Amino acid sequence: MSYNPTFQFSHAITRRPSASIVNGLRAEDTGTPDLALMQQHHNEYVGLLRETGADVTELEALEAFPDSVFVEDDALCLPGLAVLMRPGAPSRLGEVEHMAPALRKHFKTVAAIEGPGFIEGGDILLTDKEILVGKSARTDSEGIAELTRIVEPHGHVVREVDTPAGVLHFKTDCSLLGDNTILSTKRLDASGCFAGYRVIHTEDDEEAAANTIRFNQFVIMPSGFPKTAEKLMREGFEVRHVGNSECAKLDGGMSCLSLRFNA
Ligand code: GLY
Repeated sequence: MSYNPTFQFSHAITRRPSASIVNGLRAEDTGTPDLALMQQHHNEYVGLLRETGADVTELEALEAFPDSVFVEDDALCLPGLAVLMRPGAPSRLGEVEHMAPALRKHFKTVAAIEGPGFIEGGDILLTDKEILVGKSARTDSEGIAELTRIVEPHGHVVREVDTPAGVLHFKTDCSLLGDNTILSTKRLDASGCFAGYRVIHTEDDEEAAANTIRFNQFVIMPSGFPKTAEKLMREGFEVRHVGNSECAKLDGGMSCLSLRFNA
């Protein structure tokens, strides 16, 4: 099967950040996230998704789950099929059941990773020919194997790859920009996992720009990475920026904040 381009979307699902975000997971403490500023950035993000014409469902904040604003980790959305994930972070396991009802409204088939393996959506990059899944501290080979068993009958090809050591998710370091074109940090590209793709590198000292999304006509980037933004604009992409200072304190970025799909 030939995949949809994976950057043209009619719908997205987001979740408002909760006051408990101050307890969100993080690799290192770089300060307490400010809820009001995070909500402001979130509003800008949702506004950009809607500006493309997409229908965006904003779910209510979940106080019991500090990281639940990062909805991408809860599910994988494919044409006609959503797969609920099984997050490797114990504090995030319970988020998934709160995502299921929203997905059932849009997908005829909603499958679930049952375990014992783990997998988070942030480790999954869809391209027009395959599904790359990075092993990480949150995603293991058992989780990837179970995902493969679920999606293969639907015509999808899964390839297991590695997330660089010390990097939260595979997509912390890369994004799909368009047909066969990927934005990647040099360190991830050096692994060879993107052989056969056209790869654009983030500029030096701007690795955090890699967690960007192509959403319809826009490439939505975190603010503060002018050299990489300039490079993408020179390539002809319509770049838009969203403040990410607060999500970045929790290792989150543009892809983490939405589930994107056609329905
Ligand atoms: N703080 C995002 C995560 O660790 O899952």
